[in-house]
Amino acid sequence: MKHLIDLNDFTPEEWDGIIHLAGEIMDNPHIYQSSCRGKIMGTLFYEPSTRTQMSFQSAMLRLGGGIIGFDNPTASSIVKGESLKDTVKTVSGYSDIMVMRHPVAGSVKAAALTSDCPIINAGDGGHLHPTQTLTDMLTLQKEKGNLTGLKIGVCGDLKYGRTVHSLVKALSCYEGNSFVFISTNELQMPSYITALLKDWSKADSIEEVIGELDVLYMTRIQRERFRDQDEYEKQVSRYILDMPKLDKAKKELIIMHPLPRLNEIDIEVDADPRALYFRQANYGMYVRMALILIILNYDMNTPILLKGKAYDAVKCENLKCILQSEKHLLHSFIEKDGILTCEYCEGRRNL
Ligand code: CP
Repeated sequence: MKHLIDLNDFTPEEWDGIIHLAGEIMDNPHIYQSSCRGKIMGTLFYEPSTRTQMSFQSAMLRLGGGIIGFDNPTASSIVKGESLKDTVKTVSGYSDIMVMRHPVAGSVKAAALTSDCPIINAGDGGHLHPTQTLTDMLTLQKEKGNLTGLKIGVCGDLKYGRTVHSLVKALSCYEGNSFVFISTNELQMPSYITALLKDWSKADSIEEVIGELDVLYMTRIQRERFRDQDEYEKQVSRYILDMPKLDKAKKELIIMHPLPRLNEIDIEVDADPRALYFRQANYGMYVRMALILIILNYDMNTPILLKGKAYDAVKCENLKCILQSEKHLLHSFIEKDGILTCEYCEGRRNL
C-alpha cells in the first residue's frame, strides 16, 4: 500500500516516472481507458475545490473506474460529529484508493494511519499539495522541455501558499534551478523552505525581475488562511501581472498559476501565448491518471508513517495542526539539535 502525503514519499526518479507516464497517457489515452475497470476511488473533500477534485474524478472515469465521495462535508455524517478517523476508516473499506482535501495541516497523514487503502493528499491546510506540484512539473516538462536550469519567479502569498512550498522543494532537487521570491514582508517564503535552497533571492516588485525569468508562477492571496481579515485586506492587490509588466518579459517566459485566480493576473494576459495556466490545469488530469495507475499497482510493504518519537506531554504549537483536534493521535516529533518537528504538519518548537 503506497500513500502520497508528501512528494518526498516518492523519489525524484519516481516523479520523473509519473511525469513520463502522464505524457504517454496524453498521447495514447485509448490504451488506458479500461485500466481501472472495477476499481473505486473515494474522494473526501472537506474543503472546496474545482480543479483538484474534478480532475481526479475525470482521471478515474477516463481510466474506466468509478467514484464515490463527498465535496460538502455538511451533507455527510461529519455534521453529526463523526471524527476524521472513523470517516476515513469507513470510506477506505468502500474504496480501492482515496483522495482527500482537508483544511488542517497533517490531516492526510493522520488519515493514512487509519486507512485500509492508499490515500492521496489533495491539499492539507496551508501545508502541502503534492499533486499540484506534479501537475506543475508536467507543465514545465511539456512547455520548457526540461526541469533544470530554470530561473523561476514565485509571486504572491508565499507564506500560506501550499502549492509553492511543494513546488520549490521539488524543483530544488533538479540541477541549476534558481528562485526569486516576490512578496511582501508579511507573506515571505518560510525559512524551512529557503533553508533547503542553494540559489535564491527576494524582490519587492514583479517589474524589477520579470525580464530575467524563464517562469513566473503567480499565486492568490489565501484569504481563508488569515486569522485577521484586516491583514488580508492589506495584502490583496499588492501584486498584479498586467500587459505593461509583461512587455518587459522574455518571449519564452511562461506564466503559471495553480488557480483559482482573483485579480493577480489581469484577464487581458489570458490571450498572450505565454499565459499557460489553463493548459496547466488540463495537464493536472493526466498527471492524476498516471498517479492513480502507479499507486494502484505499487508493489511494496506499507511504509512506516511515523518515524520519530512519541512525546505525550508535548503539544504542537501550530494551531492549524491536526494534533489540535484529533485527540487519539500519537504526539510524534522528530528531534534534532533541541528542536522538535511535528510529524504531521512539520511545525517546529523547542524541546
Ligand atoms: N489548484 C487547485 O488546487 O485548485 P482547486 O482549489 O480548484 O482544486
